[in-house]
Amino acid sequence: MHNAAFAALGLDWRYVACEVEPKDLRAAIAGAQAMGFSGLNLTVPHKLLAVDMVDTLDATATKWGAVNTIHFTGCGSLGYNTDADAIIAALHEDLELELRDARVLMLGAGGAGRTAALKLASEHVAELFLVNRTASKAEEIAGEIRKQFPSVQVSTAYPEGDVDLMLNATSLGLNPGDALPLDESRFALKQARAVYDMIYRPAETPLLRAARAAGCQAANGLGMLLHQGAKAFEIWTGRTSPLEVMRRALEENVYGQVKLKRG
Ligand code: ATR
Repeated sequence: MHNAAFAALGLDWRYVACEVEPKDLRAAIAGAQAMGFSGLNLTVPHKLLAVDMVDTLDATATKWGAVNTIHFTGCGSLGYNTDADAIIAALHEDLELELRDARVLMLGAGGAGRTAALKLASEHVAELFLVNRTASKAEEIAGEIRKQFPSVQVSTAYPEGDVDLMLNATSLGLNPGDALPLDESRFALKQARAVYDMIYRPAETPLLRAARAAGCQAANGLGMLLHQGAKAFEIWTGRTSPLEVMRRALEENVYGQVKLKRG
């Protein structure tokens, strides 16, 4: 998506993927800077490690405790987090969700689940239900939300009644044959108005298939990938990202075809 965007804006830039071992991360960041790179994106497991490896943290990186975008400038390396805003942009765009005062069930409390839960709390949802296989990790995030966002009702159990959104931040659904990430004896899919799965490959996880069959609005995580990338592009280039060019490139490269209709 980035190379398509550079081409669309006539920029003679290139985006390349490099595999780096965690032990080499500091040297890789310094090396990229020395070679005149404009910036970097980082993914699992580097996002947390990089917090201590940049000269300055932008407020987005401080707030979410993770760096997914680095910008090299004359003043050194600046660390940003474009993931959290991307969740909200994707939920608005793909599900037309109004998050203020919403009831939300979050499945998963790993790195992605933590950022999503804190970001949703910062958007003034009314109630958050955090469910995770390892209950202590959901409890830890719930404690942090109670401290930072005391107006949000947070619990670590399945909700009674309906929710506006159920969001899957577990890795269940990535592999064929994975079980659904929820306990259907505790929560029926028809209790959710909308379901968002952060997984984007496969395009339709068993969860999304079951959600659509139950009559829920449903969307996969491609919008999140798009929006975090679009924001990073703007940080590096200072130009408005050509969002539709980037979306089309993502759909072609991830699915081998362009979807005619989203959602
Ligand atoms: P990410 O950075 O993508 O969030 P992660 O931090 O490894 O990755 O988190 C993976 C999430 O998927 C966690 O919530 C994990 O549950 P645990 O905290 O109990 O490990 C969840 N997950 C992974 N495999 C699972 C499984 N087989 N059943 C239920 N949850 C699972």
